Amino acid sequence: MSETLTILGAGRAGTALARAAASAGLDVRIAASRPPSALRLHLAQYAPRATAVRAAEVAGAPLVVLMVPQEDLDSVDPAWLDGTVLVDASNRWEGEPVPAWLQSGLDAGQSSSEVLAARFAGATVVKALNHVSHWDLDTAGRRLATGGPDRRGLGVAADSAQAAAVVGHLLFDLGFDPVFLPGLAAGQILEPDGPVFNRPMSAADLAHLTGGTVGGD
Ligand SMILES: NC(=O)c1ccc[n+]([C@@H]2O[C@H](COP(=O)([O-])OP(=O)(O)OC[C@H]3O[C@@H](n4cnc5c(N)ncnc54)[C@H](OP(=O)(O)O)[C@@H]3O)[C@@H](O)[C@H]2O)c1
Repeated sequence: MSETLTILGAGRAGTALARAAASAGLDVRIAASRPPSALRLHLAQYAPRATAVRAAEVAGAPLVVLMVPQEDLDSVDPAWLDGTVLVDASNRWEGEPVPAWLQSGLDAGQSSSEVLAARFAGATVVKALNHVSHWDLDTAGRRLATGGPDRRGLGVAADSAQAAAVVGHLLFDLGFDPVFLPGLAAGQILEPDGPVFNRPMSAADLAHLTGGTVGGD
């Protein structure tokens, strides 16, 4: 897997992932809507080992985690994400106003990740890291990083087996056991109104509830 992790979004989720990834030995680059000069003090408190970059600087990164609220997705330029494996960790919240292109896809019955895959067509979209809270992202993986049956399972939904494997390695390095779902559309079960959202469980239990397959290293 890539030794550098790039995160788009430096709020609660993005900075928690940045801390967890830095603890796992990754170089972390992180971008927000504000420029790096305005982000640095925030990072000094919430993700001191991450490097602030401009959002447009995520272009060319092999692996980017999207932790931007869906209502702000119009401000993410699809061209930045061409050629990347894009981990969609965003969530659809009932009542949250979202861009028209996203709403029309949702109205047509697609999962938000499928709509994002059409929007960010130059990227390979993988749904993951959305159903774990920032509290658990920050601490659960590290606590269980030595392996064994107590590792928490986290879902990975993708149409590309290669991209799913890259993200599975990332989750494993963060201290979680990946559970591979059968395709990007299947990732809908990881969303907020589904049975596994924000519910810590083993990979075996997660696989049982989602129809996924337990992966690992
Ligand atoms: N919070 C959680 O526990 C959690 C866990 C997993 C997934 N998620 C999902 O992750 C998403 C973000 O949640 P959050 O709680 O972290 O939200 P948040 O605390 O409000 O942070 C949102 C971040 O997105 C940044 N942002 C907005 N537009 C951007 C752009 N165009 N380019 C780069 N960054 C941009 C903001 O920049 P500024 O800082 O400059 O305003 C801010 O850093 C949501 O979809 C949420 O459902 C959240």
